[in-house]
Amino acid sequence: MEQAKKEIILSGIRSTGNLHLGNYYGALRKFVEIQDKHDCNFFIADLHALTTATDPEALHNSVKCVLAEYLAAGIDPEKATIFIQSDIPEVSEMYLLLNMHVGIGELMRTASFKDKARKALGIKAPGEGEEDSDEAFEHQIIGAETNKRVNAGLLTYPTLMAVDILIQKATKVPVGKDQLQHLELTRRFARRFNSFYGVDLFPEPSDFDLTGGKPVKVPGLDGSGKMGKSEGNCIYLVDDPKVLRKKVMRATTDEGPKEPNSPMSEPVANLFTLLELTSTPDVVTHFRDAYADCSIRYGDLKKQLAEDILAVTTPIRERVNDILSNEDYMRKVVREGAERARARASETLKEVRHIMGIRSI
Ligand code: ADP
Ligand code: TRP
Repeated sequence: MEQAKKEIILSGIRSTGNLHLGNYYGALRKFVEIQDKHDCNFFIADLHALTTATDPEALHNSVKCVLAEYLAAGIDPEKATIFIQSDIPEVSEMYLLLNMHVGIGELMRTASFKDKARKALGIKAPGEGEEDSDEAFEHQIIGAETNKRVNAGLLTYPTLMAVDILIQKATKVPVGKDQLQHLELTRRFARRFNSFYGVDLFPEPSDFDLTGGKPVKVPGLDGSGKMGKSEGNCIYLVDDPKVLRKKVMRATTDEGPKEPNSPMSEPVANLFTLLELTSTPDVVTHFRDAYADCSIRYGDLKKQLAEDILAVTTPIRERVNDILSNEDYMRKVVREGAERARARASETLKEVRHIMGIRSI
């Protein structure tokens, strides 16, 4: 029987520092789970990191760290193609070509652009109920003092992400919730290109969630909704046990339930979300029962949580250090990965150039 064509899966993480539990449960763990069944391609988005990174040495180091963390978490270079985005120069050329079909307006309306542009200009986002007009926003950007510019790379971030996906003709893209708008734009750009030139070149990629359930959102330990680098509330996969225990023991809680079956405050619910991700069901039930009958001691819950997180991160941390000390191995992985990724990318770029009329005479 003819083997069904394997689905092409692609995803990347920006090299902006060490990976945290949010990246692990939101992205990395899914990468590992799907690598056996599909044509998987996982890369390190260093060009995307460049839209906000300013220190060249730190950027270069981050690339190595993310690569080591990919491998340590279990992405197997024999099963998946692992590469660095900037090792595929075809991506940069196609980024230029695709930009000719992308509107400035649609880029400016992207939520992540608004967010990052405001950060770059030091402007607060409008609060709930306050007016958030496109006009006022454009005004702020155009009128910005030159020492507070919003770089053009930030604006065209979605074009570059679309190119990462379309150049590999990927059909499934496992990402967290925050990236879904970018994926929607990718589909729009693919449709637009196909219909403008009357071709059927690009498939429209969709989100990919192995569990079929809702996307995971790993909360912060400071009572906030999301663990994230810019939130400064991360538990890193490479955190030393002492540091990690301290972070967990300092997690925000409340005064404890006063009556049986009281509703949970957000910080306490967040602790339970983390416990559900990292502990066994009987441990979760034990603490849920203790909360319900008011016998819970948050100190015990935190101690248990810290040990259960460590059980997940310790093997990864230990492998990271081994891998980082073996540069030859890391180099071999990305060289072979880039070779495979470039083969497909250069085929697609050739087609795109031809379709757009960019041919030598
Ligand atoms: P950060 O928000 O820390 O800068 P990135 O934007 O580089 O992380 O995210 C890389 C991947 O990890 C994305 O697929 C994103 O959806 C996922 N991710 C990041 N933080 C979380 C979180 N707290 N919960 C679930 N997934 C997350
Ligand atoms: N924008 C993604 C993030 O911040 C990273 C990324 C870049 C990506 N190109 C991609 C993810 C292509 C999936 C597919 O997390």
